[in-house]
Amino acid sequence: MTTNTSDKKLWGGRFAEATDGLVERFNASVGFDQRLAEQDIRASLAHVAMLGQQGILEGAEVARITGGLQEILTAILAGNFEWRLDREDVHMNVEADLRDRIGGVAGKLHTARSRNDQVATDFRLFVREAAQNLAQLTRALRATFVAEAERHLDPPVLMPGYTHLQVAQPIALSHWFLAYAEMLERDEGRLLDAAERMNESPLGAGALAGTPWPIDREATARALGFARPMRNSLDAVASRDFALEFLSACAILIAHLSRLSEELILFSTFEFGFVTLPDSHTTGSSIMPQKKNPDVSELARGKAGRVFGALMGLLTVVKGTPLAYNKDLQEDKESVFDAYDTLSIVLRLYADMLPKAEWHATTMRQAASRGYSTATDLADFLAMGGLPFREAHEVVGGLVGLASRTGRQLWELSDEELRAVHPLLSAEVASRLTVEASVSSRQSFGGTAPDQVGKQIQAALERLKEHA
Ligand code: ARG
Repeated sequence: MTTNTSDKKLWGGRFAEATDGLVERFNASVGFDQRLAEQDIRASLAHVAMLGQQGILEGAEVARITGGLQEILTAILAGNFEWRLDREDVHMNVEADLRDRIGGVAGKLHTARSRNDQVATDFRLFVREAAQNLAQLTRALRATFVAEAERHLDPPVLMPGYTHLQVAQPIALSHWFLAYAEMLERDEGRLLDAAERMNESPLGAGALAGTPWPIDREATARALGFARPMRNSLDAVASRDFALEFLSACAILIAHLSRLSEELILFSTFEFGFVTLPDSHTTGSSIMPQKKNPDVSELARGKAGRVFGALMGLLTVVKGTPLAYNKDLQEDKESVFDAYDTLSIVLRLYADMLPKAEWHATTMRQAASRGYSTATDLADFLAMGGLPFREAHEVVGGLVGLASRTGRQLWELSDEELRAVHPLLSAEVASRLTVEASVSSRQSFGGTAPDQVGKQIQAALERLKEHA
């Protein structure tokens, strides 16, 4: 970026004094909005073509402007473009450079347009694509979860399910994988919904009130792949809810990935010992030679803070701005770029890492059998025998108390001890309280029984195929 040789500002007509240097730096956004260069030029190309079609510019003018813009795009993509801080933002850098290349006719590009509808258009194009790209990456990770669910179902790997992080009931590991696949499916849907809702063109709204020029907003909308032009020019230049919606979807998505991270961090501890994360996605310690740290998961959990911050930041920027455009809105971009970049990498990392994780079936099954995880099954057994469930709960609670006071499992209680509590109970009944029996009994729709999980895997694979 260069800061030298300030040329006349594109808006400099009424100004007698040069812009203060610090103000120039403070005001400039080119340091980050140059990321919108491609969108900016695409929108300008659509705009100038439309000006030609409407007879607002002559064919020769359109051709020169178009040629110049294409040259600029090539230069930018090749890294041969001089971004100048004194030219403030991406829009004026491109336009001033166009003037350097093709002379005064460049000034006709901005006919029937304002930077306000220009930036709103560029940014929508960017965010629409970002949402679509993240949806695709989310889908790829979702497919990974479904594949892992399938891989660990035959024979089913069992693990403890938790509530309050206390052992609750045994579940299939595949069921756990599918739970994340479900969350990710909704995340993908949220991103695509957001992309769909923002798919309207602000171009042609002008500064705020529309324009007296006979423009064709349908044509520019179509050329840029938008479904239609936005209906209200004030709304078109003032609104950033499309970016907020994108960031909301990102925030929810990374909240899910953060929960996953937290679980993987816990499950990979020596104390849990459920999973070994791959060497390729863990790091060592510079002092403790034995360490293998889950940095990827920790960072993914930590980066949720940035993405939530992006959403909160933009909500705060928008909330106090009167209609229509205010310079505050220039603050809408960096947080969106950051959230997009963060999620792009986290989604990819997990898609690469999960298939390489090694799950320890024996340890997990053992953990699933501890903590009286099948006590509910015993209560259900009594209730199925006619006892009201609340009473059955009370009876089994007493047995758990007895077993834990004497350091035993439920199936280690004697026939007499069991019969003394309820005539339906026996050592034979207690011996059936295995983790496998518990899991395979949960045949309700959406339950953890392996055949149910198998059906859900098939359905998930179908859905992945359908919208492929
Ligand atoms: N760089 C500005 C932004 O990102 C472009 C719009 C400027 N419009 C204006 N009226 N000053 O918001």
